[in-house]
Amino acid sequence: MAILLTGGSGFIGSHTAVELINAKEKVVIVDDLSNSSEVIIDKIEKITGIRPEFRKLDVADKAALDAVFTEFPIDGVIHFAGFKAVGESVAKPIEYYRNNLDTTLTLLEVVRAHNCKKLIFSSSATVYGDNSPAPFREDAPTGNCTNPYGWTKYMIEQILQGVAKACPEMSIVLLRYFNPIGAHESGLIGERPNGIPNNLLPYITQTAIGIRDHLSIYGDDYPTPDGTGVRDYIHVVDLAKGHVAAYKYACQNTGAEVFNLGTGIGYSVLDVVKAFEKANQIKVKYEISPRRPGDIATCYSDPSKAAKLLGWKAEKNLVDMCRDAWRWQQNC
Ligand code: UFG
Repeated sequence: MAILLTGGSGFIGSHTAVELINAKEKVVIVDDLSNSSEVIIDKIEKITGIRPEFRKLDVADKAALDAVFTEFPIDGVIHFAGFKAVGESVAKPIEYYRNNLDTTLTLLEVVRAHNCKKLIFSSSATVYGDNSPAPFREDAPTGNCTNPYGWTKYMIEQILQGVAKACPEMSIVLLRYFNPIGAHESGLIGERPNGIPNNLLPYITQTAIGIRDHLSIYGDDYPTPDGTGVRDYIHVVDLAKGHVAAYKYACQNTGAEVFNLGTGIGYSVLDVVKAFEKANQIKVKYEISPRRPGDIATCYSDPSKAAKLLGWKAEKNLVDMCRDAWRWQQNC
C-alpha cells in the first residue's frame, strides 16, 4: 500500500516524501507543477535511492485523480496541494477559494469512492489569527483570519471535521504548521519562491547572495523584546518528520485530531538575521520599514500535544535552519 502526497513536489511535500521513504513507506506524488518542477522527483531519488511514483495532474481534475487511486493501492493521503501566498490571496480571493476548496472537495470525493480512510491535512497557525495570546494551544480560538489564504485553511479544517463526524471509521489529522524554514541538509531540495519572496528566510538568503539589495524589516515597534515580530521557526525536515509521526497516529486512531507542528520557541526578526549572519559568516543588509498589514506581533506554538500523542518533537535549532537555508540558496 502507498501513501499519496498531493502537492508532493513542493517545499514541504518533497521533504516529507524523503522522510516517508526513509521510513520505508511507498510514496506516490501527484502535483500540477504550477509551483515546482519534475526535477524535484529526481532529487528525491538522489537523496533516498528510491524514485517515488509521480503523476502530473491537478487535484481538482476528478477523473485524473480517480485514475491514480485505481492504478495504485492508496492507504492514505497527505494533502499539501494548494495556493499558499498570503499577499496574493488578498489580490486574488476568488482564485484562492476556488482552487484550495475545489481540490480538497474533489480529493474527499475520490477518497470516499475508493474507501480510503486516512487523511493528513496541511493546515496553518494562521487559523489562530489574533484571537488570543501566544503560545497557541490546539484548543485556542480560531477564525478572524486576516486573508483569504488563512480562511481557506480555516474552512478546510471545518470541512474535514464534518467529514470525520459523518464517517467515524476515518482518521483525519490536521497539522497546523508554524513557520517552516531551512532545507534538506544535502542542499538538493529547498524552498523556491516565485518572484520576490514574501517570507523572511528566502528574503534573507536572496539578500545575502546579492539578488536583493536589502531586507526590509516590517516594524520595530511591536510589543516584543526588540520590537520586531516574533515567530516559531521550524526546520522543514523536523516538520516532515512530524508528518511521518502523524501518519503512524492515523493508522492507530480514528476521528479528527489537530496538532501544532512548531518548536515552541519564538524568535524575533532581528534574532533570525543575527543567527543567519553568525551561522554563515555573512552580512545581511537591512532597513527598518513600516509594519506589514495583516501581521501580528507574536506567534508561537505550544507543541506539547504533538510530543505527548505523536511522540514527535522538533530537534533542529535556529543555527541548523540558517545554515541549511544558506546551503540551499547557494546550490539552487
Ligand atoms: N518579515 C520581514 N521582512 C520580510 C518578510 C517578513 O520583516 O521581508 C517579518 C514579518 O513581518 C514577520 C516575520 O518576518 O514578523 C515572518 O514573516 P513571514 O512572511 O516569513 O511569515 P508569516 O509569519 O507572516 O507567515 C507564515 C506563512 C503563512 C502562515 C503563517 C502562519 O507565510 O503561510 O506563517 O503563522 F500562514
